[in-house]
Amino acid sequence: MRICVIGAGYVGLATAVMFGKLGHRVACADIDDRRVRDVSSGRAPFYEPPLENELAKLVKSGMISASKDVVAPSAESKFIFVCVQTPSLSTGKIDISALKAASRDVARAIARTNDYKIVVVKSTVVPSTTDTIVRQILEAGSGKTAGKDFGLCMNPEFLQEGSALKDSMEPSRIVVGSSDKRAGDALMRLYAPIKADRFRTDLRTAEMIKYASNAFLAAKITYANEVANICRRLGIDSEDVLTAAGKDPRIGPLFLTPGLGFGGSCLPKDVRALRYKARRLDYPAYLLTAILKVNESQPNEAVDILKDVFGDLKGLKVAVLGLSFKGGVDDVRDTRAVPLVAGLLANGVDVIAFDPMAMSHFIELMPTIRFASSADEALSGVDACVVQADWPEFRKIGRKQFSKMRNPVVIDGRRCLDPGKVETAGARYYGVGYGPASSE
Ligand SMILES: NC(=O)c1ccc[n+]([C@@H]2O[C@H](COP(=O)([O-])OP(=O)(O)OC[C@H]3O[C@@H](n4cnc5c(N)ncnc54)[C@H](O)[C@@H]3O)[C@@H](O)[C@H]2O)c1
Repeated sequence: MRICVIGAGYVGLATAVMFGKLGHRVACADIDDRRVRDVSSGRAPFYEPPLENELAKLVKSGMISASKDVVAPSAESKFIFVCVQTPSLSTGKIDISALKAASRDVARAIARTNDYKIVVVKSTVVPSTTDTIVRQILEAGSGKTAGKDFGLCMNPEFLQEGSALKDSMEPSRIVVGSSDKRAGDALMRLYAPIKADRFRTDLRTAEMIKYASNAFLAAKITYANEVANICRRLGIDSEDVLTAAGKDPRIGPLFLTPGLGFGGSCLPKDVRALRYKARRLDYPAYLLTAILKVNESQPNEAVDILKDVFGDLKGLKVAVLGLSFKGGVDDVRDTRAVPLVAGLLANGVDVIAFDPMAMSHFIELMPTIRFASSADEALSGVDACVVQADWPEFRKIGRKQFSKMRNPVVIDGRRCLDPGKVETAGARYYGVGYGPASSE
């Protein structure tokens, strides 16, 4: 089967590699020169090692190719997966300009041939987008009719960055929304080798499933953060509380770890988009507003802990370790490191920052702060460090590095360190949801 994947990002490349591994020929189309060059030479344009390994093999064997041209590879393919970005506008509404541009190219491809093609929207879009905007662009640009001359599906993606390929090959579920049975049946057959529960729906339901899922994850993280914030003020270790709470099968342990808030390219923008859509429908969406509010203030927890320890922060030297939105990835979209660093600077702190992979991207967001070339260098001579992203290597920091700090104080912003080990290695440990005993 020939498949075209439009957008060589996390979702597009994971989709391409998954179908390549299943034996299909995949053409990746992207408007970004650098991404096309990277993919053509078997490199992933982001840090995702297992995906990159497989991509390199499939490019070498000719199963995956890449081009800047979107129309030609779409015209040669039976399935066209649209995996372009849908970022937030300042109102919270999603920016679908990339989706519209890609749809116009797909319409040209559909106009060129008489084959029945199946267009699959994989980008996260609010309910009705596929059935109204995408359908309208495809029909107007091709002169053909969805459901008759070509098929239209909505197939939301649930992968997590850091395990993109594994999540695509072993998904928690496959959701296929379609405008017509023929298209939905064909997409189900394409997914036949992948083991997962399947859900057949209409286009709008498929779109809503993605938002319901991400809004829940955001709510769960936020709940853990709020519990942790209360625990810290009570002098209770939130890990003891949340671990025991998570044993209830109705609650569950995943995404119940507190931190400095959720970031990344999906959860923040998806919650904002769902709230925007709800408000357009005259529904106030109080819970979604509360999630965003807690998340916005959550990086302040690290600043508050520093104030509890040091009092006035003016002139304090603090290392921020981890700048990506989570450990193991180099994605800095909506990373909580930005409000964290901004909060520290606003309090007169002298910040030095380090990340194992994301530094070159973070410099574009905050070019004027100081960067270190290693965690050791960042810690040298500082009064405290804040772990903002849970990179595994930060767990190895010990006596050698702590002894170089002016004041060995560690603020664990992701609860990824072992307090006992940190203290044994000679530093004072503080963390989100972990504080000194209170008299309350
Ligand atoms: N990143 C994730 O973890 C994840 C998970 C699930 C769903 N999603 C959703 O999937 C979509 C894609 O996310 P992503 O993180 O892979 O995005 P991304 O920003 O990493 O990649 C998008 C790619 O599309 C390309 N592009 C933009 N306009 C184009 C056009 N007209 N023609 C061809 N290529 C074009 C861009 O150059 C870019 O390379 C978004 O809607 C996102 O919300 C993302």
